[in-house]
Amino acid sequence: MDVLASEVASQIELHREHGGVVPELASRNHSLHLRPLVEQALGHAGVSVSQIDAFAATTGPGLASSLLIGSTAAKAMACAARRPFLGINHLEGHLLSPFVRETRVPPHLALIVSGGHTLLLDVTAAGRYEKLGGTRDDAAGEAFDKVGKMLGLPYPGGPEIEKLARHGNPAAWDFPRSMVHDPHLDFSFSGLKTAVLYTLQRESGNLSAADLAASFQQAVIDILIAKTLQATRRTGRRIVALSGGVSLNRALRDACRRACEQAGLELVVAAPELCTDNAAMIAFAALLRHLAGEASPLEEDIHPNLPLV
Ligand code: KG4
Ligand code: ZN
Repeated sequence: MDVLASEVASQIELHREHGGVVPELASRNHSLHLRPLVEQALGHAGVSVSQIDAFAATTGPGLASSLLIGSTAAKAMACAARRPFLGINHLEGHLLSPFVRETRVPPHLALIVSGGHTLLLDVTAAGRYEKLGGTRDDAAGEAFDKVGKMLGLPYPGGPEIEKLARHGNPAAWDFPRSMVHDPHLDFSFSGLKTAVLYTLQRESGNLSAADLAASFQQAVIDILIAKTLQATRRTGRRIVALSGGVSLNRALRDACRRACEQAGLELVVAAPELCTDNAAMIAFAALLRHLAGEASPLEEDIHPNLPLV
């Protein structure tokens, strides 16, 4: 697929002073920015509304008020243009994002690591997914954000921890790698988060924040890689696809690349601009469904807790 335009109205600055996402602010800003953003996208793409074959929006999972604004706008455009509407699962957007510029979605093992989810899935083809494992407590991105907060870093903590960790020793602290030796494919990050908190409290002020960030980040990377390799052994898949906001992390990408090379696996990672939330990945998921003859009824509701499978 060709991405003609991909516009993002980031709200990071807006939510930063509150230390996290404020739903009321998020939806108000969605409604303020949506129309100019659509016009900007049409301008950059050089297409008119009448040239668009189908309209799509995320219908879940996510914040109800934000989902309502996006899906209502896409439905209204679809209705006015007499074209189909497709309600897309946000996680399917992430899952397919490494393949946006590829010619096909091959059978593979998918690891989605975002602010709200950590998921391992066996993918037979686009639309055919089997969940192998997920987090039992915090998502990987959530753990980054919470540890960022403990260290007094700005929201979101993920990119800040990555920056800090570049100057730290990842072996300075031996934090727990929960569940890595268990036979199941689930994740747990809350023990790691608590271990970081206790270390901070115990060492009050006498420790290097960079060492702590690097050691925490290394533990997350080790857990993610251990479970992913375990899943490839179980499924026999030879391709691993990494997606979601946390997959922007350079140390994680490099470690995954090394681990996959060693195990003789191919690694496909989403382009950096497609890792964090974006409309292009939703459009790609919609395109594949549209080409398969699918459409959603205009009555389709939003689903704040929608699972992928
Ligand atoms: O996929 P995403 O944009 O939104 C969700 O669907 O949740 O992911 C956002 C998450 C946040 O938790 C953020 O801290 C994390 O991705 N993140 C990172 C990095 N960049 C974003 N985590 C670690 N290292 C990064 N460089
Ligand atoms: Zn996301």
